[in-house]
Amino acid sequence: MGKNFIGLDTEKTAKLADSLNDLLSNYQIFYMNVRGYHWNIKGDNFFELHVKFEELYDDLLLKIDEIAERVLTLGHRPAHAYSTYIERSEVPERKDVSDGKEAMDNIVESFAKLIGKQRTLLSLAGEADDEGTVALMSDYISQQEKTVWMYRSYLGH
Ligand SMILES: [Fe+2]
Repeated sequence: MGKNFIGLDTEKTAKLADSLNDLLSNYQIFYMNVRGYHWNIKGDNFFELHVKFEELYDDLLLKIDEIAERVLTLGHRPAHAYSTYIERSEVPERKDVSDGKEAMDNIVESFAKLIGKQRTLLSLAGEADDEGTVALMSDYISQQEKTVWMYRSYLGH
């Protein structure tokens, strides 16, 4: 089996890069949804949620860039078209959400999807001895599990 320029198995790396592009697509749709919540939210908790959602989409944007650059680091091309994101994302587009609870529920649900995908990627990366991707996924999972706890607490679960 061939190795690439950073000593990783070529075939396994190609699969990993593809899974990372799948993850990237989900992040991009999630990111745009959260921008929509930031803009459209109404009601008593406007000030609190408007700020909270900005904090969230800023964090998603950082991760989007890290995932894309990981794909490049592995020698592949990151997905970079909305048409690809729409086609590949399991996180659905959310339009016209102005209710805080509905937005928070969607966010918790989207995180569950992302965390599941990242767990799968973590084990794929482990099998490929790709410590860089393992470390990235591991960070995201623990951070987002904590975020889910806090969002759920806010919702009273
Ligand atoms: Fe804003």
